[in-house]
Amino acid sequence: MDQLFAAIDNNTDRFLDELKQLLRLSSISAASEEKQTMVDTAQWLVDHLKAIGVAEAEVCPTAGHPVVFAQHPGPAGAPTVLIYGHYDVQPVDPLDLWTTPPFEPEIRDGKIWGRGTTDDKGQLFCHLKALETILRDKGELPVTVKMIFEGEEEIGSPSLAEFIAANRERLACDVVLVSDTSMYAKGTPSIQYGLRGLVYFQVDVEAAKGDLHSGSYGGGVADPINVAAQILASMHDENHRIAIDGVYDDVLELTPEDQKAYDALPYSEDDFLDETGAPTTYGEKGFSPPVRMSARPSLDANGIWGGFAGEGAKTVLPAKAGFKVSMRLVPNQDPQKIAAAFRKHVEKVAPDAVRVKITEFTSGPPFICPLDEPALQKAAQALARVFGKDCLYTREGGSIPIVSEIAAALSSPVILMGFGLNSENAHAPDEHFDLDNFVAGIKTSIVYLHLLADQG
Ligand code: BES
Ligand code: MN
Ligand code: MN
Repeated sequence: MDQLFAAIDNNTDRFLDELKQLLRLSSISAASEEKQTMVDTAQWLVDHLKAIGVAEAEVCPTAGHPVVFAQHPGPAGAPTVLIYGHYDVQPVDPLDLWTTPPFEPEIRDGKIWGRGTTDDKGQLFCHLKALETILRDKGELPVTVKMIFEGEEEIGSPSLAEFIAANRERLACDVVLVSDTSMYAKGTPSIQYGLRGLVYFQVDVEAAKGDLHSGSYGGGVADPINVAAQILASMHDENHRIAIDGVYDDVLELTPEDQKAYDALPYSEDDFLDETGAPTTYGEKGFSPPVRMSARPSLDANGIWGGFAGEGAKTVLPAKAGFKVSMRLVPNQDPQKIAAAFRKHVEKVAPDAVRVKITEFTSGPPFICPLDEPALQKAAQALARVFGKDCLYTREGGSIPIVSEIAAALSSPVILMGFGLNSENAHAPDEHFDLDNFVAGIKTSIVYLHLLADQG
């Protein structure tokens, strides 16, 4: 292992130069004008996989952006690991808030900066460099490795379920490895044993057929902004619980083992307030912030609009208003059931004085891996070895909607081994990835593959 680790340390600069090439490709899955870039990025990955000695790699077309599939055989009888990652990235606006342009990656302050550095190209690249390092030194891998890199994660993976269903044999594996989450803190390794699910809605509220003078009509017809605010406000009660009937019905309560894992987290309220800049924490009564942010459902307004927001005063009774709301779901909430409950709630509270339209966007189920899963325990061992510290068990507050689908379709455990940090501005300007974690990620991947090979 020392020899492999030394090779990583000696080659880090080259690894970063290569990662920069990948980061320069503006693979924004939501942008229709980047359609060709998506293909180019998939092709770049295939070329790179071949260059590092992976036996098979191909760009697989789908109804949407292509999937990269690759594999390299291990010794006979060795287990098979399927590494999942996504090469698509989020849009970059607001552009003017970036210190350096999003697709001109740069290294400063021990971090690599640019769109996709932590989410997810940088994390995905850790595994490629792990494979390269082993292959160069040993000529063979300790396990059979398969890889699937998708280009649609940031838009809810619309084509991946079909691809998985059509390629179950090829994707068959003993364990799925995903590095697209966050570790607890810098220097504090953690394994993520859960993800929250997601449902996302837009609610449009309309009353009059056009904007009206608020002097002539105010008091005569409903103000859609007032009603939108009333609908939104009805979604929480005074204990900050979600006040939609049935939402908590299927919520899995923490087991004593879960509680132990949360109790072990070195959570500091001061650090948290420092990190977020908020005056106090806020959320469901009776649960600590770490629990609320990963093991309890939440409901957030993502945007709200309507009427006049320009300079000065304009007396107007607007015709329309609206808002976008997302809910994070936890095991065993079912996105469809929750979506139906949401609709029912809005229809119940909206007065007859307005017309309401509900549109549903991306959704995905939550995910949880049993804490006693052997592949999870080995992942924790690998992290502990590389970071020189006991590994914590956390649950991710964010979502990777396809994960539960992968777990079910392949009947394999999914291990979430995140090397990112929540403070790395994923989806925001000045996204970055810590270089110590980049190197540790490569080393951990190597140790993990070797631990998996050892089937004792
Ligand atoms: N890598 C993230 C998931 C994630 C979120 C990890 C927060 C760690 C912290 C993933 O790329 C992502 O952004 N997921 C989206 C869902 C998707 C449907 C847009 C999310 O969680 O909002
Ligand atoms: Mn991601
Ligand atoms: Mn993301």
